[in-house]
Amino acid sequence: MVRTKRRLVVWGLSAATAGFLFGYQAGVISGALLFVRREFALSDVEQGALVSMLPLGALVGGLIAGDLADRIGRRGTLIADGLVFVAGTILAVVAPSYVVLLVARAITGAGVGIAAVTVPLYLSELAPPAARGRLVTLNQLMITLGILAAYCVDLVFAGSGSWRAMFALALVPAAVLVGRMLRAPETPAWLEAHGDPDAARRVIAAVTDRATADLLLDDLRRSRAQDVERIAARDLLRSSAAPALMIGVTLAAAQQFAGINAIISYAPTIMEKTGLNLSDSVLYSVLIAVVNVAATIVSFRLVDRLGRRPLLLLSAAGMFASLVVLGLIFLLPAGAAQSWLALACLLVYIASFAVGLGPVFWVLIAEIFPPAARAAGASVSTATSWLSNVVVGLGFLAVTGALGEAPTFWIFAAVCAFVFAFAYRYVPETKGRRFSEIDQEVRARRTGRARVDAPSARPTG
Ligand code: BGC
Repeated sequence: MVRTKRRLVVWGLSAATAGFLFGYQAGVISGALLFVRREFALSDVEQGALVSMLPLGALVGGLIAGDLADRIGRRGTLIADGLVFVAGTILAVVAPSYVVLLVARAITGAGVGIAAVTVPLYLSELAPPAARGRLVTLNQLMITLGILAAYCVDLVFAGSGSWRAMFALALVPAAVLVGRMLRAPETPAWLEAHGDPDAARRVIAAVTDRATADLLLDDLRRSRAQDVERIAARDLLRSSAAPALMIGVTLAAAQQFAGINAIISYAPTIMEKTGLNLSDSVLYSVLIAVVNVAATIVSFRLVDRLGRRPLLLLSAAGMFASLVVLGLIFLLPAGAAQSWLALACLLVYIASFAVGLGPVFWVLIAEIFPPAARAAGASVSTATSWLSNVVVGLGFLAVTGALGEAPTFWIFAAVCAFVFAFAYRYVPETKGRRFSEIDQEVRARRTGRARVDAPSARPTG
């Protein structure tokens, strides 16, 4: 029992190292930019382009990843991903010009996009149902740790201004990813679908026991029998996966349009506007990153106990309330009280996100699609996430400039209210369930015939 659990954690962490790189690469640019800007004398537009290269590269990487993960396997895709990260990082470190750095960040972005699709897939397919939420949440935990690590690295090298060193440190987790994945197994679902049920049974038995392995293998066979052909991304809307796609795509867009990355990146600017000193700005970023990690740990402990729906609803409510108050604070005259209130709101907002909408989105997109459409569904959902990320990133400052802070935060708040209503109506409870049961609830909710109270979890699947 202890050994099976250990294996699950070791293999889970191996794959989630790609999640760490996702967070690191997204976070590192904020500190590096200050010095890259100086070295290459970049205009505002050029800086914006450099920042946007990552989500744009990720968009492309994510679209390729679904197909790749079906063809060469989830494990093979993650090994390839590690190599993409190595290539992108080395190019960034030696970049002699701005254009080369742009290319390097696009390659790294592709690595991030591949990770975002493949890690949740790998984790959800490796985990027995009762531990699936926790194992997939490991991905979000590693993303938040990656962001925190990047801020700390930025802080350490800020004195010397060595942006190449900031990028270079990503080589360590990239090498770990390749090395560890070479020793990790392929997922049972992929092995079964590719004609190797014996190997699939061995992997399930290695993380559960023999009796459970037979049961889960049987379930894999049955759910695959319903959709014999692999469903490609372009056919999703016309397939049996359409209702799940609506949920994946909506939550992906909502996660971004609720302002998460705008708030993370502009937290120092937001605090400065309330009258605080910008030199403390890095400190706020680190504080926000720490709260992000801490609340994700809470989610990790709760997701398989409370379930996905309660966390999602709680999260949307907390984010909504903090954004409404944050908007109101901006209508007050500047002063110390305003600053502390704003900081409190930002922390409540990030904690609420990290406990629910952050991790649960990734858990759900790995759970709600039928096996034949799982890779394509995750791929299209994450592509929506990256596209929305770019739109919000480009639009945030323009909208705040035109409307002011308060209405901007209220727009984010309105998105959170929408997430609450949408989750209440359409998102199924997937805790501890097998895919066939999840699928039934997705369809029932679509037609309004859902049983809101989900049947209790079955530990063995
Ligand atoms: C989101 C990212 C975000 C991160 C913050 C993830 O769930 O998809 O866009 O930067 O959470 O922790």
